[in-house]
Amino acid sequence: MTESSIGLGRASGKVILFGEHAVVYGVAAIAAGISRGAAARVRFTEHDQISLSGELLAPDHDLLSALFALRKVVGCEPVHAELKLEIPAGAGLGASAAMAVATARAMNDLIEKTNRSSRPLSDRVLFEAGQSWERVFHGTPSGVDVAAAQSSRPIRFEKGSEPTAILLNKPLHLAIAEAGPPASTKEMVTNVASFKARNLVQFDKTLEAISALVDNASLLLASGDHRAIGKLMDLNQILLSGWMLSTEEIESACRLARSSGALGAKLTGSGGGGCVIALAEDDAAAERIVSVWRNAGLKGFSSRIEGDLNVDHLECQK
Ligand code: PMV
Repeated sequence: MTESSIGLGRASGKVILFGEHAVVYGVAAIAAGISRGAAARVRFTEHDQISLSGELLAPDHDLLSALFALRKVVGCEPVHAELKLEIPAGAGLGASAAMAVATARAMNDLIEKTNRSSRPLSDRVLFEAGQSWERVFHGTPSGVDVAAAQSSRPIRFEKGSEPTAILLNKPLHLAIAEAGPPASTKEMVTNVASFKARNLVQFDKTLEAISALVDNASLLLASGDHRAIGKLMDLNQILLSGWMLSTEEIESACRLARSSGALGAKLTGSGGGGCVIALAEDDAAAERIVSVWRNAGLKGFSSRIEGDLNVDHLECQK
């Protein structure tokens, strides 16, 4: 196999800092890509195939339907996609979107190499391709995961609009833990929809409150007042638990983080399990939170997000 017959692609995992679930109802969310994500290596074959972490998936696996949908948008012939994940799947870190964007980039790389011509994949086509993959799993995804997987800097994302860059006055030091077993995003989104149907007035009030939190958070990220941002994260967590998205494990991981110096902590992604993020004062403080989590039996790692330098560093701890 020569290098020219293999396409390579990578994409970021993500954290949602503010606004998950509310984003499905048209409120803006703030999300950021992290360095850990997914890598894809593709080559042309007769029929689509996917190997995930070295294991060939059964032909009726949902990921193959996602691959088919994605390559139709990219305009690519059948491929064998070898995928590697550096983040847990279904835990709120955007693993599915990262695999989608990495695969679309790898397909484009392969087409460029085999056609010996440059074929830039526009952000819009990449987004649509990622969304077509996500729809196989999530029904009607807002698009925040795909937009964050595409981006190397924090974004403000509103359904149906182009994401805009968020100004970060100084780096964000995050600690990220797997607080509990993953939950299905589709199920959690459906649960929120049925909560809304039962409690329309309360739902709308919470939506307004989250929208105000997001606007406040954008201003505070620009001014660099991380103590205040931490408080807004705590508030967002309370509002999400009002929508029945929190669990005892999530609450306990947030409590541990706060009592270990976190400026604020919340679930990230769909909730019902999965990951928690905590904002720390600096890298060392983030490491301290990770080690407190580790002593409590939780897996975690720290992540530094440097918006204005357009880079994101990550120091991993297993
Ligand atoms: O798939 P997750 O866990 O990263 O959550 C995605 C964010 C939601 O707001 C819960 C759903 C969506 O489509 O935006």
